[in-house]
Amino acid sequence: MTIPYPTTTPSVQAFLQVDPPSGASRPRLAFLGTGYLGATYAICFAELGYEVLGFDVDEAKIAKLQGGQVPFHEPGLDELLRTNLTSGRLRFVTSYEEVAEFADVHFICVGTPQRGDGMGADLSYVETSVSNLARHLKRRALIVGKSTVPVGTAEWIEQLVAKHTDPELRVEVAWSPEFLQEGFAVEDVLRPNRIVVGVKTEWANGMLYAAHKGVFDLAATEDREVPLVVTDFATAELVKVAANAFLATKISFINAMAEVCEVAGGDVTQLARSIGYDPRIGNRFLQAGVGFGGGCLPKDIRAFQARAQELGAGEALRFLHEVDLVNTRRRGKVLKLAAELLGRPAGPAGPDLSGTRIAVLGAAFKPNSDDVRDSPSLAIAAGLANAGADVHVYDPQGMANACAAQPTLSYEQSMTDAVTDAELVCVLTEWAEFRNADPQALGELAANKLVIDGRNCLDAVSWSRAGWTYRGMGRPQPRV
Ligand code: UGA
Repeated sequence: MTIPYPTTTPSVQAFLQVDPPSGASRPRLAFLGTGYLGATYAICFAELGYEVLGFDVDEAKIAKLQGGQVPFHEPGLDELLRTNLTSGRLRFVTSYEEVAEFADVHFICVGTPQRGDGMGADLSYVETSVSNLARHLKRRALIVGKSTVPVGTAEWIEQLVAKHTDPELRVEVAWSPEFLQEGFAVEDVLRPNRIVVGVKTEWANGMLYAAHKGVFDLAATEDREVPLVVTDFATAELVKVAANAFLATKISFINAMAEVCEVAGGDVTQLARSIGYDPRIGNRFLQAGVGFGGGCLPKDIRAFQARAQELGAGEALRFLHEVDLVNTRRRGKVLKLAAELLGRPAGPAGPDLSGTRIAVLGAAFKPNSDDVRDSPSLAIAAGLANAGADVHVYDPQGMANACAAQPTLSYEQSMTDAVTDAELVCVLTEWAEFRNADPQALGELAANKLVIDGRNCLDAVSWSRAGWTYRGMGRPQPRV
């Protein structure tokens, strides 16, 4: 039966009662792919009281998780992992057979990286996980996509499921995008600001409601409501990429304003504050700086454009190309500022920074994360090194990943080690450790008191008072 897009609150949905095919009183959940998304969901849903299985083909990762170690940095997650392993509600396995035997609802959380040959998303992990799971299913189950995918993927997954399962099992597909932010992931899963489900049948809707009841129950005990949007496959898939495209656009908008402020003598931080007071605009995601990075925003806006082009709506998303360009220009801006501050004017091949020593503070794409995927900080560090500088990087959590991604840079054990003898300091990720650093003390270690604040996160006046020549992004030099 096709559901005609009811957009309802959980209380209205509560009548949807379905019995989990496993015979358990509430659905047993599996999360396939224990990367950032799947591991966080698996751990948090066990915390909500569900019986949960996390699955991955990567045996080392599964051994770590089963041993009580989260393979990435996410505040609060280690503790929840250990509590829930001990409770017996949470396990991690590498066998499709076990997953198929165990769960009623299977969430597909595998990666969808950018394809090597273009801007589109690589769906090979989705295809492998769904096909292998489907082949092992022996009773009715619901397969729910969570990975960020091109619109149309859910319909394609239905075809894969039809190919690999007996029709009598009546295995169904649904879509439920996720919106978690690294650094806030536990809160975002336990207390989401909305749940969106794309379903075709009452049964799928009921199973998904039961699979999220723990979230609604927690909200009720805290006197909150979590809005639930029940919709069709295409809309559910599009919601995710539309949300990320909007966030990326907001960041590039303010970075475009930063470019204008730079030539007009304005201050983008005050501009952002001033427009942000208008509730129609809002003040979040208006921090100008070195731009957005990470495993999601950059690749998602590219994959969205590629898919729209395939569908014949390429023009509708042409502005996202501009969003991407503004974002990339911000990385180049730091190189230009560095050359200017160090008195190394750029030639046709860019600036020559040879013989200079530069400290880069921050490698992760944002604070409270060890993720360096498409990190502006690390890309800028590599750009400075390419221009000939001797670059010394420090990040509170991202060192191991940064070392693996950019092995030729020098890595230091502390902020002070990185700053010692540096002729220029670039703060490129706004970790609290850097924001709260004492400019006086750092000034005594550095060879030159030159600082680029790539995130507008330092107190420009106190750094200037401590003798530093300060350059922010889209703001004039402070008057001291
Ligand atoms: C993003 C979305 O915010 C999540 O809602 C989404 O679920 C997730 O992608 C995903 O698709 O899985 P995340 O990648 O964790 O989350 O990072 P964000 O907090 O969105 O930050 C992205 C980048 O934008 C970072 O490099 C950050 O430093 C930068 N940023 C953010 C700015 O430059 N300015 C801002 O005002 C805000």
